[in-house]
Amino acid sequence: MLYKKVKKIEEEISVIGIGCWNFGGDWDESNDKNTEDIILTALDNGINFFDIAPVYGFSHSETVLGNIMKKHGFRNHILIASKCGLRWDESRKTRNDLSRKSILWEIDQSLSRLQTDHIDIYQLHWPDHTTPIEETAETLKELKKAGKIRYVGLSNFSQGDVRKYEKYIEVNSQQSLYNMLERNTLSYHNIPLEYKTEEEVLPYVKEQGQAFLPYSPLFQGLLSGTWKDKNNFSKNDIRNENPKFSEPAFSKYFNKTQELNEYANKIGHPLYEIAMNWLRQKEEVTTIIAGANNSEQMIQNLHCLNWDLTTQMMLDLETIIEPLKYL
Ligand SMILES: NC(=O)c1ccc[n+]([C@@H]2O[C@H](COP(=O)([O-])OP(=O)(O)OC[C@H]3O[C@@H](n4cnc5c(N)ncnc54)[C@H](OP(=O)(O)O)[C@@H]3O)[C@@H](O)[C@H]2O)c1
Repeated sequence: MLYKKVKKIEEEISVIGIGCWNFGGDWDESNDKNTEDIILTALDNGINFFDIAPVYGFSHSETVLGNIMKKHGFRNHILIASKCGLRWDESRKTRNDLSRKSILWEIDQSLSRLQTDHIDIYQLHWPDHTTPIEETAETLKELKKAGKIRYVGLSNFSQGDVRKYEKYIEVNSQQSLYNMLERNTLSYHNIPLEYKTEEEVLPYVKEQGQAFLPYSPLFQGLLSGTWKDKNNFSKNDIRNENPKFSEPAFSKYFNKTQELNEYANKIGHPLYEIAMNWLRQKEEVTTIIAGANNSEQMIQNLHCLNWDLTTQMMLDLETIIEPLKYL
C-alpha cells in the first residue's frame, strides 16, 4: 500500500480507501459474510480508510461495519469517515437536515451502530440551505469538544460554502464526484451539483492542505471496462436511478469506455486499473474511496498500485477523455 499525508490530517492515509455504500444492500442483495471478506481483504492490503454514511443501507452499512470491527478488533487501526445530514422517513424518502437537533441525534446513532466512542472524520453529506451555516458549524465544534468527532469533512459543497464554514471551524477534508468521465459534471443522479470538481475543488484542497476523497472513482462500475452494453441492474440496484445510465446520456459515456478499452488493450492493463491509476496520479487525490462487490474486485483495483501511468499515457488519455470534460 502507498500512503499520503496532508497538512490538515495527522495520520497517513492509504491511497486506496474503501467505500462502504454497497455493504448496505442498496446496490444488490448484500450479504454480510461477503462484506466481512471485503473488509478483511482491505485490512490485509493495508487499507486504513473507510468511507460510510448512516443513509447507506438505511443504517445497515454502519451496523455491519460496527459488528465486523468489534469481532476482529481493528477499530484503532482505521480511520472512519462517516457523515450526517441525510435523513430518511418510514418510506425511505430522504431529506437534507444539518440542524443542531438533527446532528446531535445522528452522531449518537452512528456511534452506537459503529460501536465506537468517536468518528475520525465527520462529513456533512450534502448542503442544507435551510439551516444557517453558523448553527451547523457550532454544533460540529461541540462534537469535537466532546471528543465524539476528530475532524470535519464537507461532501458535495460549493467552494463558496466551504469558505463560509471555515470562518467558524477548520475543514479537514472534502469529498466530491470525480472520475475520468465525470471531472466537472453538474449532476449526480438527479441532484444538481454546486461545484466543478476539477476546476474548483482540486485547486482549493491543494491550497488548504485538505484531504480530498473522490467518490464513484469507477463511475459506479462503468469505468471497470467490463460492461458489454447497458448493464442489467437488478430491480433494487440504486444505479437504476442514475439518468446517465439511460439514453440519451448512456451512449456518450459507454462509447467513451469502448475507446478507453482499446487504449487499455494497447498498454496491456485493464480499464479499472487505468481509471484508479489516473486518480492516483493527481496530487490532490488523497484516498480513492472505491466500492467493491467482492474481494476479487478489490484486489483487481489494488493492482493499480503496482505500476504508474507515464506522462505520455496521461497525455494520450487526456486526448480521449477531453471531449467529456464538462459533461
Ligand atoms: N458523498 C457522496 O455523496 C457519495 C456518493 C456516492 C458514493 N460515495 C462513496 O463513494 C464510494 C464509491 O462510490 P460508488 O460505489 O458510487 O462507485 P464506484 O466505486 O465507482 O463503483 C463501485 C462498483 O463498481 C463495480 N466494480 C468495482 N470494481 C470492479 C472491478 N474490478 N471490475 C468490475 N466491476 C467493478 C462494482 O459494481 P458491479 O460489480 O455491481 O458492477 C462496484 O460496486 C461509496 O461506497 C461511498 O462510500 C459518496
